[in-house]
Amino acid sequence: MPPSEISYGFKGAILTAALRTKEHNSVNIPFFALARLTKPRSRQGGPLMSEQLAGTSAAPVTPVFRWAGSKRKILPTLAEYWNPKYSRYVEPFAGSAALFFSLQPDRAVLGDVNSDLIDAYKVIRDRPDDVHRAVTKIARNSDTYYAVRKRNPSRLSAFNRAVRFVYLNRYCFNGIYRTNNDGHFNVPYAHTKPGVVPPIERFRRCATLLQRADLRVGDFGNVLKTVRKGDFVYLDPPYVVESRRVFRKYDERDFSHSDLERLKTHVVAIVNKGASFILSYADCAEVRKLFSEWRMRRVRVRRNVAGFVSARRLANEVVVTNIDI
Ligand SMILES: C[S@@+](CC[C@H](N)C(=O)[O-])C[C@H]1O[C@@H](n2cnc3c(N)ncnc32)[C@H](O)[C@@H]1O
Repeated sequence: MPPSEISYGFKGAILTAALRTKEHNSVNIPFFALARLTKPRSRQGGPLMSEQLAGTSAAPVTPVFRWAGSKRKILPTLAEYWNPKYSRYVEPFAGSAALFFSLQPDRAVLGDVNSDLIDAYKVIRDRPDDVHRAVTKIARNSDTYYAVRKRNPSRLSAFNRAVRFVYLNRYCFNGIYRTNNDGHFNVPYAHTKPGVVPPIERFRRCATLLQRADLRVGDFGNVLKTVRKGDFVYLDPPYVVESRRVFRKYDERDFSHSDLERLKTHVVAIVNKGASFILSYADCAEVRKLFSEWRMRRVRVRRNVAGFVSARRLANEVVVTNIDI
């Protein structure tokens, strides 16, 4: 598509004439063609200052991604089980990896079945400044969001796929990752509570930490097979609770009861190897029965029901572990 087919509004860089025909939908439009003409919003200045003040100390790092089911709210509880003497930190259901970024272990394995997510982490690890620059150049408005969402990721470079992933993650409804039957991301724009792109300093600090991690795409079983004596394993699978409206579709396939049973088999194996684990999950009969041989602690947390902020309520979650604290 010739650049002349894209025009901008006076302030907001509103995309008015892009993607007119079916043919054009698959044309490789450079991301800079969607760039905003205005400066980044001042909201981005605040966090940058506080993160700069934090410097390179071990102050906890906030994830780059928003993620449905993130355990940010119970990080202090989870952190009680951590000890830097563990040889490796292993997280096979990484998502936004909130605990990893908060603890900053020296060596880690991060896995997720979501290949777009892991691929994006790899690009952020290697080119944090470039990713930040490219994402902040794209206008934040509904038209642009849907134009970016429409782009076929398989026709983009790894770098532009990562930029698209970050952009959609920050501005989509509630940080949800959901795809249609064709595997295409289909979460709507967050009209009422749009996110912001985190400051560049956060991208840099996340990149530094990601350099310590072995990043793997795939099923949790592949990562858990590699667990060794002395490892610390954090398990945060999607919830399989039929009786509640818990958002649990992260990929083309749901996490099922048989996955939970399979997870238990892996937990038995990693405990037998001499590794330590914590599992966070919804407090439900299934998990209490399946993991009854280990310690259990109930945690109260405020959650959005089915992803809706208006339906916040206190939910019970459990932490299951073989660690004595
Ligand atoms: C509750 S989220 C993890 C949230 C994470 N603790 C955080 O801080 O954001 C669960 C994650 O498991 C991933 N997942 C789902 N099924 C999986 C599987 N079979 N193997 C590995 N990862 C899987 C999803 O893509 C999702 O990112």
